[in-house]
Amino acid sequence: MYIKSLRLADFRNYEKLGLEFSEGTNIFYGDNAQGKTNILEALYMIATTKSHRGVRDRDLIRFDCGEGHIRTVIIKDGVDYQVDMHLRSSKSKGIAINGQKLKRASQLMGLLHIVFFSPEDLTIVKNGPAYRRHFIDMELCQLDDLYLSNLNKYNKIVDQRNKLLRDIARTPSLSATLPVWDDQLVEYGTKVIARRAKFMQNLNDIIGDIHLRLSGSKEHLSIRYEPNVSVGEFAGKLSAAHERDQYLKSTSVGPHKDDFSFICDEIDLRRFGSQGQQRTCALSLKLAELKLVENLIGEAPVLMLDDVLSELDTNRQNYLLEALGGIQTFITCTGLDEFVNNRFEIDKLYQVTNGSVTEVN
Ligand SMILES: Nc1ncnc2c1ncn2[C@@H]1O[C@H](COP(=O)(O)OP(=O)(O)OP(=O)(O)O)[C@@H](O)[C@H]1O
Ligand SMILES: [Mg+2]
Repeated sequence: MYIKSLRLADFRNYEKLGLEFSEGTNIFYGDNAQGKTNILEALYMIATTKSHRGVRDRDLIRFDCGEGHIRTVIIKDGVDYQVDMHLRSSKSKGIAINGQKLKRASQLMGLLHIVFFSPEDLTIVKNGPAYRRHFIDMELCQLDDLYLSNLNKYNKIVDQRNKLLRDIARTPSLSATLPVWDDQLVEYGTKVIARRAKFMQNLNDIIGDIHLRLSGSKEHLSIRYEPNVSVGEFAGKLSAAHERDQYLKSTSVGPHKDDFSFICDEIDLRRFGSQGQQRTCALSLKLAELKLVENLIGEAPVLMLDDVLSELDTNRQNYLLEALGGIQTFITCTGLDEFVNNRFEIDKLYQVTNGSVTEVN
């Protein structure tokens, strides 16, 4: 699959933009705050209906404008799909595929698949657990509609249960309704846990070989899913936590507290890894994700590297480069030195200056 073209109108700092992409490597370079990441963000919107920066639709519309538009043409299995996304400041977004309006935005999921790599991903090993959950969820929500829907329901129930816990502080008799929320939390939570466990297992099956290559045959890496609670113990632990949850006014048991760890030759890299080891490990994780998605959907996803190349040393850049064959890639950077130094294949080169893009080659 690849993205053939992008058109923007009143999206972020773009008033109007029209670009045709290469099926290979597309590079956007320019100074800070010119609009490089905004282009990746627009494409990411088409893959996931959401911004990778986690902002609301209205923040994506150009300042002082009432609406914004993204149009892409995606080629998948040789078929053209034109996707139109209409962002509105006070209403939910409208989406059409080949002119046919979708009833729900989530129907767009699964058409375009993007693996997004940002500098924050390089610190995933040592960041807090929320970053690692975000990694799992970003990928699984793209891969699996059912997971997306179960996770959304689960998160809503957590919010509602937390609201109830706050209300109980004022009106103690409400605690009688807590078990109703517990049942629903367990129903959807167990589905989330089971799907995450399978995903982590799939990644684990791939990451060992990748990391062995990346570390020059030196390190054996595995990842270990650490669910906050197992499926079998969920209901029991949740009801045993009633008193504590009421005191904390927050739900303390469930997959919204999950984590996973990176084990390298029996050492937990989060606590004992060197910075270099942690970064190599993060790169292995991204490459494993890329490979897993390719295995699961039967074709290569589109890869986005937002400002990560300059963060990697030459060796790791080269490993990354090797992995890119046959994958449409979008890269942003502030300088071109690393490409010139490292025999990078550049198919299209764009300079980005203050909301306008010029093709250089
Ligand atoms: N809704 C908006 N309307 C107009 N301009 C916006 C909007 N949102 C962000 N911008 C502008 O977009 C610019 C940032 O764009 P972007 O994040 O793509 O920069 P970048 O080129 O990736 O920079 P860096 O190299 O620092 O990552 C900023 O100048 C910001 O003011
Ligand atoms: Mg940027």
